[in-house]
Amino acid sequence: MSAVIETKNLTKVYEGGRRGQDVHALKNLTLTVSTGEIFGYLGPNGSGKTTTIKMLLSLMFPTSGSIAILGRKDYGASDVKRKIGYLPEGAYYPEFLKGEEVLRYYGQLYGLHGSTLEKRISEVLDIVGMSRARKRLVRGYSKGMRQRIGLGQALISDPQILVLDEPTTGLDPIARKEIRDILIRLRDEGKTLLISSHELLEVELISNRVGILYEGDLKAMGSITELLTDRDVTLEVRGASPEALQRLTAKGIQSESQPQGVSLLRVPNTMSVYEVLEYCKNEKITLVSVAPRRETLEELFVRVVGAAQNEKKG
Ligand SMILES: Nc1ncnc2c1ncn2[C@@H]1O[C@H](COP(=O)(O)OP(=O)(O)OP(=O)(O)O)[C@@H](O)[C@H]1O
Ligand SMILES: [Mg+2]
Repeated sequence: MSAVIETKNLTKVYEGGRRGQDVHALKNLTLTVSTGEIFGYLGPNGSGKTTTIKMLLSLMFPTSGSIAILGRKDYGASDVKRKIGYLPEGAYYPEFLKGEEVLRYYGQLYGLHGSTLEKRISEVLDIVGMSRARKRLVRGYSKGMRQRIGLGQALISDPQILVLDEPTTGLDPIARKEIRDILIRLRDEGKTLLISSHELLEVELISNRVGILYEGDLKAMGSITELLTDRDVTLEVRGASPEALQRLTAKGIQSESQPQGVSLLRVPNTMSVYEVLEYCKNEKITLVSVAPRRETLEELFVRVVGAAQNEKKG
């Protein structure tokens, strides 16, 4: 896999921000996003995601550090930019345009015209599920429809790279699933996607790798499988007496009562599952199932951001 987006020690300082103080929005970000992957770019509000994205699109210049896109140091050149589709955060399109006109406008900006452009508009409307609404004004579009047109606009030049700043914000679960399926399909076609989002469940479902920013610092980065640790092993058991459960609690095993005499025992990773199984056997507790429980991306996020906040408090 080759590097599609590469940053080295990328830093951005906004001069004279709030109360005249400089804002260190991004600090020494070193990041690689490779061909055919979805990279989930995460972090609390104000952590520097949009700042990074704007620099990748040369809408803003770094204070220091470097960027290469498709191996090109001159990533702001128009032939490189043409290979990047961008959905801005909270994208806004003129209310008096029809959906297809929005796409035509952006297609022209990318240098497309004539029958090539018209063909591409139809293809894109089909991809984002907006063919039937193409002749309606943006004014009458729902939030989800606006988001779809936004995604269509990002796709109009058939770019190799997609940079999407919060693509599923404010969408209903079905629209979200549909957008998710579209993004996965694009990835499977070999496109490279960098997606910033607060929708951690979405990101967990589609990303190959994620990075978590906190106040401009990258606090964690890796593949979902690397980062999400197994939290514990859950044993589902039947017929455990309250005394037996109490003894388990004393050993550090949390239990949770379920209907029909079933209990869930959470065996921490630090403990031997075999020992607990042995104990259950001796106590004549029936084993129903054994399942490892993996940390969710939300739990990882809370863990990483929480640790960074504590570190800051000192
Ligand atoms: N044009 C600007 N001038 C001064 N400070 C700015 C500017 N743009 C952003 N900032 C500051 O830089 C920091 C990072 O902002 P950024 O928009 O990159 O965060 P974000 O991670 O995209 O947040 P969100 O999740 O809320 O979209 C914040 O402290 C913000 O106030
Ligand atoms: Mg942002």
